Amino acid sequence: MTSSNDTKNEAGEGRRDFLYLTAGMFGAVGAGSVAWPFISSMNPGADARAMASTEVDLSPIEVGQSITAMWRGKPVFIRRRTAKEIEAAKEVDVTELRDPQTDADRVQKDEWLVMVGICTHLGCVPSGQKPTDQHGDFGGWFCPCHGSHYDTSGRIRKGPAPKNLFVPGYEFVSDTLIRIG
Ligand code: FES
Repeated sequence: MTSSNDTKNEAGEGRRDFLYLTAGMFGAVGAGSVAWPFISSMNPGADARAMASTEVDLSPIEVGQSITAMWRGKPVFIRRRTAKEIEAAKEVDVTELRDPQTDADRVQKDEWLVMVGICTHLGCVPSGQKPTDQHGDFGGWFCPCHGSHYDTSGRIRKGPAPKNLFVPGYEFVSDTLIRIG
């Protein structure tokens, strides 16, 4: 006959087993959850780094041609300027500009203009990447949304946009490769 003590002992041991088991499970989950944030805190860093910069091969771009690259979800206009465009950009009287910047402030090498292709008025993408596009009164880019004209250095010359097209941080990895961001 089983005494009430024996029943308590069996029940007590059963509870202990359950507690050990539960503790073991929590231990396992705990170990997993210690490792995970460490790993997951490293992965976004690598992803973010990859997304934060974009490399662009410039070698296929001929003089007078433009391409559009994507960087952080934004279009980046890269133009290999003609001698005439460079000259036009340099001879501007900077004191007359709404957002005064010399051409040298905006390029690392005269031939290459790199800038975010988003109008600084309300965010449209200006036209001027293709030869058949409208280039505005200053031979650069034209934003048809409200009529902003940008010159061959991407500076605002006419219309409502308050700022020049933004020049992102970038570097020449080689003569024909740039890394944006
Ligand atoms: S968004 Fe370009 S002129 Fe308004």
